[in-house]
Amino acid sequence: MSAFLSVDAISKTFTVGKQTLSALGRISIEIERTEFVAVLGPSGCGKSTLLQIIAGLIPPTSGRVMLDGKAVTAPPRDMVYLFQQYNKSLFPWRTVLDNVAFPLEIQGNSSGRSVRQRCLEYIAMVGLSGSEDQYPWQLSGGMQQRAAIARALAAEPSVLLMDEPFSAVDALTKLELQTLLLDIWAKHRLTVVLVTHDVDEAVFMADRVAMLSARPSTIASVTDIALPRPRDTIATRESASFLSLRHGLLDTLLKKDRPGPTPDEVRVTMDGAAHG
Ligand SMILES: Nc1ncnc2c1ncn2[C@@H]1O[C@H](COP(=O)(O)OP(=O)(O)OP(=O)(O)O)[C@@H](O)[C@H]1O
Ligand SMILES: [Mg+2]
Repeated sequence: MSAFLSVDAISKTFTVGKQTLSALGRISIEIERTEFVAVLGPSGCGKSTLLQIIAGLIPPTSGRVMLDGKAVTAPPRDMVYLFQQYNKSLFPWRTVLDNVAFPLEIQGNSSGRSVRQRCLEYIAMVGLSGSEDQYPWQLSGGMQQRAAIARALAAEPSVLLMDEPFSAVDALTKLELQTLLLDIWAKHRLTVVLVTHDVDEAVFMADRVAMLSARPSTIASVTDIALPRPRDTIATRESASFLSLRHGLLDTLLKKDRPGPTPDEVRVTMDGAAHG
């Protein structure tokens, strides 16, 4: 039996004028229901392209994506996509409540609760109660991204796709949002694909990390992240297993840019003595 979300031999070539650019080589990965998979890779390797293909937003050149046994040829109803640029994805002329309600206006609301009740529930979940009547431009960046998360969740998807969702918020807010997202993921039993350039974030959040190679990208490695859950913002990051996983992934990502240690490499201590 195939996995819940299956990326099967996907390739993507872009044609611009007379030039063609091969972004994705041949990418396959099977993702189980409720699994949290992070995708890491060098800038420009095709991470966003891959996520957009999984979302049914752009077609692959070859290969196919299957969700729960059905081919993805258009954005599936139970899949949502969280963009990095919350300031471009929220409607400035709508309040927080009306932004969160937007997908329900398109999809309809068959949940049995009123749209307002349903939206207020998700606004509360992301810690924005009291701000529902404010406009996005009246909120901080972190609050805007919380509103975007509430809007994504209000659609009650089974799959959440995120493209560098925390890269535009400050460092502290990023840590808070990572933990918030993990809580929501566990509570709602979501299947998540997170694209990030942040090794620390990938190891902290994911069950597995898929590393893409440079263009045309293929999957260079898939690493199991067997860290216990629930994960703690500080303690998990200080654990030996976390540091070892982070080390391995960073090493792979940076390898192309720096020479590895040679056998005759020496370590020089503060007193100037050389050690083999
Ligand atoms: N619509 C498009 N038309 C032509 N080329 C494109 C298009 N979209 C992406 N590309 C090219 O495909 C390659 C991969 O782009 P993509 O945005 O997927 O990379 P990425 O891994 O997400 O990069 P980053 O880490 O910087 O966000 C790039 O060389 C980009 O220029
Ligand atoms: Mg990208």
